[in-house]
Amino acid sequence: MSDVPEQTRFPTLDTTPIPVIPDNVPKAVLELPDNQAEFPLVEAVEGPGAIAIASLNKQTGRNILDPGFVNTAATSSSITFIDGVKGVLRYRGYPIEQLATSSNFLEVAWLLIYGELPTEREFEAFDQRVRAKYLVHEGVLTYIQTLPRDVHPMVALAGALSTLAAYNPHILNPLDPQQVEDATITLIAQMPTIIAATYKHSIGQAFIYPLRELSYVDNFLNMMFSDKASEYTIEPVLSKSLERLLILHEDHEQNASTSTVRNVGSTHADMVASIVAGVTALSGPRHGGANEAVLAMLEDIRSSGDSVQSFVNRVKNREEGVNLMGFGHRVYKNYDPRARLVKESAHDVLEALGVQDDLLDIAGELEAIALADEYFIERRLYPNVDFYTGVIYKAMGFPTGMFTVLFALGRLPGWIAHWRELVQDPTTKILRPQQVYTGSLERDYPAKFVGIRPIRRSRR
Ligand code: SDX
Repeated sequence: MSDVPEQTRFPTLDTTPIPVIPDNVPKAVLELPDNQAEFPLVEAVEGPGAIAIASLNKQTGRNILDPGFVNTAATSSSITFIDGVKGVLRYRGYPIEQLATSSNFLEVAWLLIYGELPTEREFEAFDQRVRAKYLVHEGVLTYIQTLPRDVHPMVALAGALSTLAAYNPHILNPLDPQQVEDATITLIAQMPTIIAATYKHSIGQAFIYPLRELSYVDNFLNMMFSDKASEYTIEPVLSKSLERLLILHEDHEQNASTSTVRNVGSTHADMVASIVAGVTALSGPRHGGANEAVLAMLEDIRSSGDSVQSFVNRVKNREEGVNLMGFGHRVYKNYDPRARLVKESAHDVLEALGVQDDLLDIAGELEAIALADEYFIERRLYPNVDFYTGVIYKAMGFPTGMFTVLFALGRLPGWIAHWRELVQDPTTKILRPQQVYTGSLERDYPAKFVGIRPIRRSRR
């Protein structure tokens, strides 16, 4: 497209490698029965610092054991800050409440990826480059047509995203800055197109092509909900509410799927492969899959005819398979600020869309009971981002199976920002944890089996 401004030289992040720790910092002393070791203390700009234990095994012959990395910082990062006790979330220092209210999805994507808010010219060029790449290779659509119609949308997304590597071989070198830029634009521009195409395929409707004159979110809504037989009018409240939800999901520091993207990126696998890994990690019900599970939970409560209190009692009794989905968080030991923002808008969005849904009332009753119950209070369990989003997505017209796909669409810029921060850091090592071995000691193959179980040969 000739009127697309020439590519703005996107500022690559001045990723400072993990700071070399000076010798004169305070030390932590580890007393062992047979040894003593000292480790420098590393301070954060904000939030908890760390004990830098890179020399632990060398000094003590031991590793640390920290299942789930509850106490382990795997990296330093300057992208997102969370204070789980105060319920604070900031992208590059900007509070989520301000970005969700005043910014837009692509501007926040630029902020996360490049570290600063874009100038007007930078934003225009970025927006134009994304619009220029909305269209996917026809081969991607052909792949989608081969899928079963009832495939889970997250499975369809992971598969279709993978094909971007097949049709865009020039964006796969993680060490070529231009290819990293091209991969960034291609993924951001084409994920909505892929998502809408998989949805149209699932309902047996013709695919709706992207329109470059439409903004990012409007283009996505048009591909999702317009059809070949009628004009589709994009409701501003729908577009604005979806944009706000996508911003709320754009990053969340070292969560499980972002850590997966970083892990895969640390092998110098390409950005597409790393993002596909993030999508698969996100699909789990303990993580991004929770928004879909919350709606199922609310519908089960409604159809059971039992009281909400009796459901809460079943959760507290730890009945098999009975979980309070959308509650609890590894970091937030207070109300998830995103959940607060989603809840605040839920009633307005449903009212503006003219949707009545008693599931929202059930969710409100469930929250009120849980927040007043000692079982949840002592475990510091609060609603997380997934608790209310499903009710809104449902009111917007998205099928339940797509809720986690919408989470992935929102999270994509954060995944890319973390991948770039890691790959561009020359000190990054391949992420390869140690273990504490608890298996058998050395033993020999039983003599009585020798000669009896030869390596199986194929029989013609
Ligand atoms: C996301 O990390 C991120 O940032 C993720 C995310 C992001 O933006 O990327 O914020 C998105 O994944 C949000 C979380 C969505 N998942 C759910 O809503 C699923 C339900 N929540 C739980 O599975 C759980 O709370 C986790 C997985 C979210 C967090 O688990 P942790 O930190 O490992 O905590 P835990 O399992 O050790 O639980 C501590 C205690 C336990 O009780 P005790 O054994 O100590 O008596 O709290 C209990 C748990 O049984 N508990 C719950 C509970 N979550 C934890 N009890 C009832 N209902 C729950 N939901």
